[in-house]
Amino acid sequence: MSEHHFVSPFAQRFNLSVPVVQAPMAGGPTSPAMVAAVSNTGALGFLAAAPFSPEKLATEVAAIRALTPRPFGVNLFVLDPAAPDDSTVRHALAAIDPLRAALGLPPGHPLEQYAPDFQAQLKMLVELRVPVVSFTFGVLPRHDVARLQAAGSYVIGTATHVAEGLAWQAAGADAIAAQGAEAGAHRGTFIGEAEDALIGTMALVPQLVDAIGLPVLAAGGIMDGRGIVAALALGAQAAQMGTAFLNCAESTIPAAWKARLRTASDTATRVTPAITGRHARGIRNPLMQQLAGQPGHIAPYPVQNALTQELRQTAGRTDNGDYLSLWSGQGVPLGQKRPLNIPAALLVNQLDAEWRVIAAKIGALNHQGEA
Ligand SMILES: Cc1cc2nc3c(=O)[nH]c(=O)nc-3n(C[C@H](O)[C@H](O)[C@H](O)COP(=O)(O)O)c2cc1C
Repeated sequence: MSEHHFVSPFAQRFNLSVPVVQAPMAGGPTSPAMVAAVSNTGALGFLAAAPFSPEKLATEVAAIRALTPRPFGVNLFVLDPAAPDDSTVRHALAAIDPLRAALGLPPGHPLEQYAPDFQAQLKMLVELRVPVVSFTFGVLPRHDVARLQAAGSYVIGTATHVAEGLAWQAAGADAIAAQGAEAGAHRGTFIGEAEDALIGTMALVPQLVDAIGLPVLAAGGIMDGRGIVAALALGAQAAQMGTAFLNCAESTIPAAWKARLRTASDTATRVTPAITGRHARGIRNPLMQQLAGQPGHIAPYPVQNALTQELRQTAGRTDNGDYLSLWSGQGVPLGQKRPLNIPAALLVNQLDAEWRVIAAKIGALNHQGEA
């Protein structure tokens, strides 16, 4: 495909030669080096900024800008301030403290802050005037979407079902990231029960395309060129891929997490709120199973997330895969054919070559049909 022939209006708008968005992934994978490498190779790199203070958000964006002149995205979690009562915290710690003890950590305690202040993050995001922004866990009020758009940002809202897509449309969003049940890590669900919002990518994407009339990005289970072609066939304008990029050289996650991705099977993952208080898909391990075994002791997000954080960070430092959060999508085995620590640019180039071969084959079949 020539540079002047784009596969979709979304690809054209951001001058993408590859119809792939590298999903924002909080917790280490989406380093500035990853984001820039992806954008420099013709796809759209995306920084996950939810865990960052406004100052850190600014320095990470500056680092990306130093590495690429091309468009990139920044993602935040839509969150209200958390003010848990003491008993919620103590109840959660009763289940977490024995795991802390197993790693040699003293008992946990209530924290001053459970997540960065979302309003301060949003203010900084407006000031930074980044090309693309996306949000999950909620919907912004219309005036905040308009503020971002006035600053030149293209606004994407995450939806796990049609009502959430309609909420983002009403808020004035430019596009929807459709997150299917296959997807790795947190569910974006913010209307209704998370258990009811596990719609597979194959069913979700065309329903959002039909209902909303905004560009849709397909996320969940897309790992190679076949998945990209399928996403485009369903009406998506690009594939948003997370798990496929976890294995990259630029993905700064613990080696133990990468190692488990390489051996995980199709049935290795589960969706549970046990680790962070919000439903999320990850590879089962003792951390997940021990916390999930005490469902009465799980504080809501972001409290549970913050209370299990030191434990998971300690496991990361000691490369202990038993006590890490091993976020992963259901497609994880499909990534095992690629080399460990593959450079992100090489992965993007492979994905581009793969989807074009399949699209050409389908084109040839159509041609035979016509003859
Ligand atoms: C490790 C990990 C962290 C993630 N963190 C975020 C995040 O910070 N913000 C977000 O909007 N989505 C996040 N996601 C979800 C992705 O945006 C996307 O929905 C998902 O990766 C698509 O499914 P796949 O993993 O099968 O490709 C994360 C996914 C993974 C695997």
